[in-house]
Amino acid sequence: MLEAFSAAEIIAAKRDHHSLTDPQIDWVIDAYTRGAVADEQMSALLMAILLNGMENREISRWTDAMINSGERMNWSALSRPTVDKHSTGGVGDKITLPLAPLVAACGAAVPQLSGRGLGHTGGTLDKLESIPGWRASLSNEEMLTVLQDCGAVICAAGAGLAPADKKLYALRDVTATVEAIPLIASSIMSKKIAEGTSALVLDVKTGAGAFMSDPAKAKELAHVMVGLGKRAGVKTLALVTAMDVPLGLSAGNALEVRESVEVLAGGGPSDIVELTVLLAQEMLELAGIKGADPAAALKNGKAMDVWRQMISAQGGDPDAKLPVARENTVVTAQSSGTILSMDAMKVGMAAWRLGAGRSRQGESVQAGAGIEIHAKPGDVITAGAPLYTLHTDTPAAFTRALESLENSVTIGDMPVGGIDRLPLIVERIVD
Ligand code: URA
Repeated sequence: MLEAFSAAEIIAAKRDHHSLTDPQIDWVIDAYTRGAVADEQMSALLMAILLNGMENREISRWTDAMINSGERMNWSALSRPTVDKHSTGGVGDKITLPLAPLVAACGAAVPQLSGRGLGHTGGTLDKLESIPGWRASLSNEEMLTVLQDCGAVICAAGAGLAPADKKLYALRDVTATVEAIPLIASSIMSKKIAEGTSALVLDVKTGAGAFMSDPAKAKELAHVMVGLGKRAGVKTLALVTAMDVPLGLSAGNALEVRESVEVLAGGGPSDIVELTVLLAQEMLELAGIKGADPAAALKNGKAMDVWRQMISAQGGDPDAKLPVARENTVVTAQSSGTILSMDAMKVGMAAWRLGAGRSRQGESVQAGAGIEIHAKPGDVITAGAPLYTLHTDTPAAFTRALESLENSVTIGDMPVGGIDRLPLIVERIVD
């Protein structure tokens, strides 16, 4: 096949700080997806993009080219408006689990096509797979049936959705080119736009446990993603939210499902409940649903009913006992006082080392592994009282996990002005 461009000329253009033209972008994404651009050429281009950036037009075209590399879902057969939420990921972030059934219980349809975890943040599918029988892979027809019957579906994005991103993401992972705002924004938004939702709320995490730890960078990413969504005709807004401290009181697959079920039963940790209700309100407003009361739907069991129906529809048993790791060990506080900080990254790394996460794509994870957190910043603790319980099937993992947790908390006297931490909602970004 006679190619329209050569990869080397496009790499040289970006290396020399030029903008790529629309035809160059369309070609390079298409040619990479079909194997006509080699991994080493794409690696060089990705590094040039990371170093020299892209203007908004280029990011928008790059995103469109990734969408056009595969299929686009269509939910027009549904009678309800569609709305989804995407989080950039954080430690203990299990919000999708209670949120999707909650928003469905309030009248919207939630097509949540998710991924698996990589590194210290967990993946929604890994969490749900700890429920005996639950199936992540559904055909497009099955997705539509679950959405129609339950109002929400959480499942794996099929191989046909933005295949260019799947290839690019794997390459970025091994070439130190993940951390580029144009590449992150286009990767996330190509999948969400191809997923076919008409409205989208982005939860962009910031703080030590987030992958954009700097709030200014997190805000920049949020603005770029909101712009991409709007240009594609998806009603989009972003909340930049705190990830300096783990969310809730657990990190790990089955442990997080248990906590999510507590929230659906009207209880659960207050930060999880607050963020779930806030995101639900934003999603319902974007979807044009008036007068719904998500806080009440958590308390009165309506969200729980949808959860049970949704889990059963995908082969899961909502009443089954969740897996428990074979071994556990308790970490106690070394001094008495108020917990002033808790480093989300250290807790996430420890959960990952216990077996809750994977370091290479395709590895399996332990359902029961992870960390229970017994006290959080603001709580008063006495020396010797339990701080964390670590769970794993592989006790050799305790040593490295305990190393990660060293200095993960500071304990002292409560400062006069209170604890210095990020507010739960750092910023709301609408354009
Ligand atoms: N998640 C994605 O899907 N893509 C990225 O580039 C980063 C996080």
